[in-house]
Parts: sequence; structure tokens; C-alpha cells
Amino acid sequence: MRVCVVGSGAREHALCWAIGRSADVVATPGNPGIDGRLDSGHEMSSTPAPPEEVEADLYVIGPEAPLVDGLADRLRARGKAVFGPGAAGAALEGSKRYLKQVASRAGVPTARWAAFSSGELDGARAFLAGLEGGYVVKTDGLAAGKGVLVTGDLDEATADLEAKLAGTSFGEAGRRVVIEERMQGAELSLFCLTDGHRVVPLAPAQDYKRIGSGDTGPNTGGMGAYSPVPAVDDALVGTVVDRIVEPTLAYLRRDGVDYRGLLYAGLMLTASGPRLIEFNVRFGDPETEAILPRLESDLTSLLAAAAGGDLGAAGEAPRFSAAAAVSVVAAAPGYPLTPRTGGLVRGVAEAGTLEGVLVFHAGTTLDGAGALRTSGGRVLCVTAVGDDLAAARASAYRAVSAIHFEGMQVRDDVALRPLVALGPR
Ligand code: AMP
Ligand code: GLY
Repeated sequence: MRVCVVGSGAREHALCWAIGRSADVVATPGNPGIDGRLDSGHEMSSTPAPPEEVEADLYVIGPEAPLVDGLADRLRARGKAVFGPGAAGAALEGSKRYLKQVASRAGVPTARWAAFSSGELDGARAFLAGLEGGYVVKTDGLAAGKGVLVTGDLDEATADLEAKLAGTSFGEAGRRVVIEERMQGAELSLFCLTDGHRVVPLAPAQDYKRIGSGDTGPNTGGMGAYSPVPAVDDALVGTVVDRIVEPTLAYLRRDGVDYRGLLYAGLMLTASGPRLIEFNVRFGDPETEAILPRLESDLTSLLAAAAGGDLGAAGEAPRFSAAAAVSVVAAAPGYPLTPRTGGLVRGVAEAGTLEGVLVFHAGTTLDGAGALRTSGGRVLCVTAVGDDLAAARASAYRAVSAIHFEGMQVRDDVALRPLVALGPR
């Protein structure tokens, strides 16, 4: 079997590594880390060819942008098996307004909200001023995780709202906004495989969204992750599936949307139980890099079964090892606002030889002389697997310390205080 993975980040590298246990895999456009023969004997490689020109038995689409743009629909129209929703399902991530409409209509617990466009500034200001406990202002469209302001300060929220609606901060993407009340609690990422009917949750993970240690500075795509999350048991996962994921899929089915792929529930574990922050329509990054190394079942069979519309065909539910995994992202200087690229990257091979360590490439490129250089905001994601979170964390940071590029940004608190206790479910 030959699988095509679409994308170029550490998430796609981790997907290729896991799929490569049982199939040959080609990534488009991939990255320099996705290259060579795996221990399984299968090959992984990268190609600049567009996905439509890559021959494969299964296509797995990594990032949200091509999903929102309808790549899955175009491949299915050619008779291909695709893991990833079509444009109609991907709108859950492509439009925050649509997401909130679906959640409200499906009875999914989520933050109080309203949507406004540029002609509605007075109404938007009034809604914001009427919220209690904090303010959240989001661009309606995709903004690479950067279009969301969360604050307790009404003046800051109002200024952000005005800049977004005027089109000065996010251009056209900001001219429509969703305003929400701020929820309090711990965040959790739960990835669910689905064939449109059946839902199969993967192991939960926690992501570190802010650039700085101690949750300081601006939001990023994600600076680290760990799995398992000690406080999150099967009962809590069951509650999320029953109250949040299943009702959403039932709503989509009634709306004629055939959703085959991954539904990623971004959750707030509040004092009154789990509530939905947002859905993503793809694997999360860097949570995937912490989850897949713990997966003992065959990922290729699971993805192929979901793509084929019958997850039951994969047989057993996914099994995860009792080991823990910690992933730490090394980001370029200036990330997330203005990343500076081109720096020489050293120590990747050395880090990769450490016990239990996997170095996934995110924003790297080979220069004309064959040297590895930074080429994106998030440069590498270093995962270590260990007997428990403390051991995995120690190995991950040992590996990170072997890696160097100028201005490298790393959070030093990933998995330092894993979530161990929760309020009511
Ligand atoms: P989103 O792009 O919708 O996931 O938002 C990015 C981040 O903003 C989330 O991961 C949360 O940390 C935060 N956030 C979004 N919505 C809310 C909310 N209603 N209450 C509190 N925090 C939020
Ligand atoms: N880690 C957050 C995301 O993938 O959107």
C-alpha cells in the first residue's frame, strides 16, 4: 500500500513515521526529515508534485487550508480514498461563525457568543460590554491561530474589535468576527477518528499555545504537548464524545455532510464540565507528535477504514501504550509575529540517536550545500517517549539541548505541571 500525506510540518512528519510502520508513504511537499527507509522496511519520501499528481491508494490531508479549499472533494471526485473532510465539513474550522451555529443548533455546550460584520460595530461593542468574566474576539476566517484575542480588559477587547472590523489588523479575514464570553478552566485536545457515523477517540493530549514559558506572550500554533493527561480518564472522554462530538456529527449528517477524517475537539474543562472551544478538522500540531508515538495499533488501517466509510473495518479500537510522550517545539526567532529564517540548524542527528527520542521536522530546508536551515516559524518538534511524563520530559529536554540554531525559542515548562486533578465532569 502507498499513502500520500499532504503537508510539510512536524505533524505530517509524525503521520508519515506512523503510517510508515505498515505502508510506503510519500509526502507532498513534505520536508527534509521525511526521507529514507524506516525500521519497518517501508520507504518515506517527499515530492514537490501537487497531490493530484501523486499516485497513491490513500490520501491523508494534514493542514486545514487545503481541506477548507476542497482538496478532499477534488480527490474523491477522481475516485480516490481520502482521509479528511470535504469543504462542507471543513467549514467547521474555516468559519468560526459556522462552528458556533452548528454547536448551538446541535445542543453542544460552548461559550455564549454572537457574530458581527464590519457594518455592525455599535451592536458588537454593546454585546462585548454586556459579557461577564472576560472577553474573546475572533476573526471569523482562518488566521493561522493568531486571530483570537482573550482578555479581561474591556478597553483592550474593544480596540481589538475595532481594528478587526475596520480591516486594519487582519484584512478581509477580520471584517467578520465572533465575540465570545471567556471560559475558565484547563484546555484539552481530544482527537476523534470518524467515518461520519462511528466515532473513535484517540488518547487525549494537552497543548501549550502561548510562545512563552508560564503561558506568556502571544498565541502560536502550539509550542509543546504531552500525552497521556493523568487527570483525564475514559469517563471524561466518553462524556466529550456523547455530549460534544456525536451531536455535532449527527447535525452534520442531517445537513447532508459526509465527514470522514479527524474531528479535533478543543475543549475547556470548566467547573461545570467540558465545553467546546472550537473544532479543528485535522490532526493537531504538536499534539499528534505526542500521541502517535504511543499508538500501538496500525494507523494506516484506521485511516483507510475511516476514509472508506466504515471504521469497523479496522477491527479493534486503537490501543495506546502505557508510556508517556512529551513533545517540545523549537521555534525560529521572532515567531509567531515575524519569524526570521535561514539559520543553520545543528545537532538534529545527534538528538535523534538518544533513547526514545524522535525529531520531527517542521520548518526546515536543505541549502545548496546540503546544510539544514530554518525555513519556517516552528522549525523542529522533539518528542521523547518514557516510562512516565517526568522521564519523557527529561529526555525531550536533553535532546533539545543537543540542537542549536540562532535565536531558537523553546518553552521550558512543557509537561512540567501536568493536569492531575479536575473539578466535576
Ligand atoms: P481558537 O482558535 O478558537 O482555538 O482559540 C485559540 C485559543 O484562544 C484557545 O486555544 C483558547 O486558549 C483561547 N480561547 C478561545 N476561545 C475561548 C473562550 N471562549 N474562552 C477562553 N479562552 C478561549
Ligand atoms: N495545536 C493546535 C492546533 O493544531 O491547532
